[in-house]
Amino acid sequence: MAGQAEIPADVVALCDYERHAAERMPAPLRAYVDGAGADGLTAQANLAAWQAIRLQGRVLADLRGADTGLRLLGLDLPHPLILAPVAFHGLAHAEAEHATALGAAATGSLMVVSTQSGLPLEDIAARAQGPLWFQLYMQPERGDTLSLVRRAEAAGCRALVVSVDAPVNGLRNMEQRAGFRLPEGIRAVNLDGMRPPQIRSEPGRAATFLGLMDAAPRWEDIAWLKSQTRLPLLLKGIMSAHDAERAVAVGVDGVIVSNHGGRALDTLPATAEALPVVARQVAGRIPVLCDGGIRRGTDALKALALGASAVLVGRPQIHALAVGGAAGVAHMLTILRAELEVAMALTGRRDLAGIDETVLWGS
Ligand SMILES: Cc1cc2nc3c(=O)[nH]c(=O)nc-3n(C[C@H](O)[C@H](O)[C@H](O)COP(=O)(O)O)c2cc1C
Repeated sequence: MAGQAEIPADVVALCDYERHAAERMPAPLRAYVDGAGADGLTAQANLAAWQAIRLQGRVLADLRGADTGLRLLGLDLPHPLILAPVAFHGLAHAEAEHATALGAAATGSLMVVSTQSGLPLEDIAARAQGPLWFQLYMQPERGDTLSLVRRAEAAGCRALVVSVDAPVNGLRNMEQRAGFRLPEGIRAVNLDGMRPPQIRSEPGRAATFLGLMDAAPRWEDIAWLKSQTRLPLLLKGIMSAHDAERAVAVGVDGVIVSNHGGRALDTLPATAEALPVVARQVAGRIPVLCDGGIRRGTDALKALALGASAVLVGRPQIHALAVGGAAGVAHMLTILRAELEVAMALTGRRDLAGIDETVLWGS
């Protein structure tokens, strides 16, 4: 693996990757990766909410043959830990998304490739050894959206994850203060040649209500998209019972409870708070996944206990990539899976189906 770095010996948990990455990444890049919307309250809440939930231990359970495997939208996965779609991996490592995909495959992990990958989705898929989903940002022109869908299908992606929570960028004050700019040579290549939203200009006005929202997807576009592809369709960014019900009604195959890692609308609740609300509404009709602040196997266990079928991790993959390239990503996922297994063992759960709210203290 070109450019592979030694993983420091004191990296034993995901927070260690974050610490080492912070030492290696210039301040503006750190502000981009670790920053969040406005005051960062939702991003902090994501972390704090998982930490605040207590587990209920169980002893002497029969855990012979215990296993973390699951079947999810037609895929057999050895564990429920997924790499969330994250833009521009080339910011963290020269091998960019290729390195992440290698780390994912080495650990049997599903990777969600972002619309905003810095490498063409076809190139990532051609070299990937493991399964991929494609995260889709719907484009102002249906023809452009459809072209992304056809490309993802042709590249062998196994599902489409439509991110619906960021039709306008969050107010990334931390990034702004740090003066983050995409370096020369890193851009959203998958969108080359596509028509951007047509923004009118008016002094003293932001783009949001001057064209950006006119081009933003609506529920009817999701119904249209569903009719255009046989790939399973998930909506990412569902944070309310209302939207969860509409998602089921429109016929999508899964939802992801996500507040974009706190990068979109600040002061949204933590995903640990929204997950049970969404899971109750969906009531098992389609899989519910969750991301935001998952940093420990215990966090993953708690999400599964609150109704998630699987969880996604965002920032930790960039930290691991910056520190150790593909090997770092594989190691990060290995740590998280090992932690999940310990947490399952000590709460007496032999498989994911056996994880329910009785895992949680006070249930
Ligand atoms: C640097 C960065 C870039 C991201 N880019 C995307 C993206 O292109 N598409 C998307 O749907 N979500 C994107 N996200 C959000 C992640 O998919 C995920 O929802 C979030 O990072 C989960 O929270 P966590 O970082 O606390 O694990 C990005 C997140 C980060 C940190």
